[in-house]
Amino acid sequence: MSDVNQVWRLRKRPVGEIADDVLSLEKETVPEPAEGQFLFRMNYLSLDPTNRIWMSDMDQYMPPVALNDPMRGVVCGTVVKSRHPDFAAGDVVSGLGVWADYQLGTPATMGKMQTPPGVSVADAFGLFAVVGPTAYFGLLDLSEPKAGETVVVSAAAGAVGSIVGQIARIKGCRAVGLAGTNAKCKWIVEELGFDAAINYKKENVAEALKRACPKGIDVYFDNVGGDILDACFKQMNLGGRIPTCGLISQYNATGEVPGPRNYPMILMQRLKVQGFIVLDFAHRYPEAIMALGQWMQEGKLKFKVDMYEGMESAVKTLRRLYTGDHTGKLMLHVG
Ligand SMILES: NC(=O)c1ccc[n+]([C@@H]2O[C@H](COP(=O)([O-])OP(=O)(O)OC[C@H]3O[C@@H](n4cnc5c(N)ncnc54)[C@H](OP(=O)(O)O)[C@@H]3O)[C@@H](O)[C@H]2O)c1
Repeated sequence: MSDVNQVWRLRKRPVGEIADDVLSLEKETVPEPAEGQFLFRMNYLSLDPTNRIWMSDMDQYMPPVALNDPMRGVVCGTVVKSRHPDFAAGDVVSGLGVWADYQLGTPATMGKMQTPPGVSVADAFGLFAVVGPTAYFGLLDLSEPKAGETVVVSAAAGAVGSIVGQIARIKGCRAVGLAGTNAKCKWIVEELGFDAAINYKKENVAEALKRACPKGIDVYFDNVGGDILDACFKQMNLGGRIPTCGLISQYNATGEVPGPRNYPMILMQRLKVQGFIVLDFAHRYPEAIMALGQWMQEGKLKFKVDMYEGMESAVKTLRRLYTGDHTGKLMLHVG
């Protein structure tokens, strides 16, 4: 175990893209666990679009990270020293932590990892910590898709979107994904089994949606907001559902973001538009983990981790979420 702890601290609120001086990597001493705490070594850091939200002082679903505090993150690690009766050295834990090599945990924020047989720790962490439950509850609880319906998902080659489309297929729906490159579109159709894909950067989205969704859209799982949401609004069927999962097209915005032009479609088509945060379903995580794990074992669900290396590259790697320069779940391996 090293004596030196590398810790990323938030130094500035980002304006637009996350600049180099928004966070700084410090060398600090490794903390000692007090009674009821354990010390763990971070092994994997989940890089999530919400990290950008936590850095800002915008209205949000939990307090922003305070300036000069360690950056908050979803982490997975190995216990090295414990003063909590339920945790011992060697336990693999995951939960809400910080961007630091070594950090203290308690059961309030960290739990022991569940890793089904045949699934690696990285895959289990990547799928079960946030992404899988988000896709599972967001799609199934909020939109209740029925066999034969058409489900459209944006950021479809990303972590959440790639799982949403596959669950839609498992439920007998037509799955249509939007993604930002031809390679991503090919991957979701040929590898993941989506019925159709749209490269939203190359195609006219409204026209492409008409082609890919000849019976209209019953469910639009929104990961991005903005122009794609507007284009989907226009083609929603009567009684359609829109789970609002994320608005990544707006996270780096500097000025006021315009509202959707096609908002009247909510009235005309009696749409249900509902936001959610996966933490709302924390009490039902075991249900999602069981279903997702079973689908994986049956070969019905594929999950791809896009892994990068090293604490020092955390910010550079995080930016990939906003440029789309990754496929599947973006993650950092840190020791
Ligand atoms: N509600 C919740 O509890 C919850 C939980 C987890 C995630 N989320 C949200 O779900 C969404 C996806 O998260 P994720 O972790 O799965 O990330 P991800 O999809 O793996 O990565 C983000 C993807 O968004 C796409 N993107 C970036 N900027 C865009 C833009 N301006 N317009 C359209 N697409 C853009 C990029 O793909 P392309 O190359 O295709 O552009 C990028 O790969 C995010 O909005 C996130 O905030 C919500």
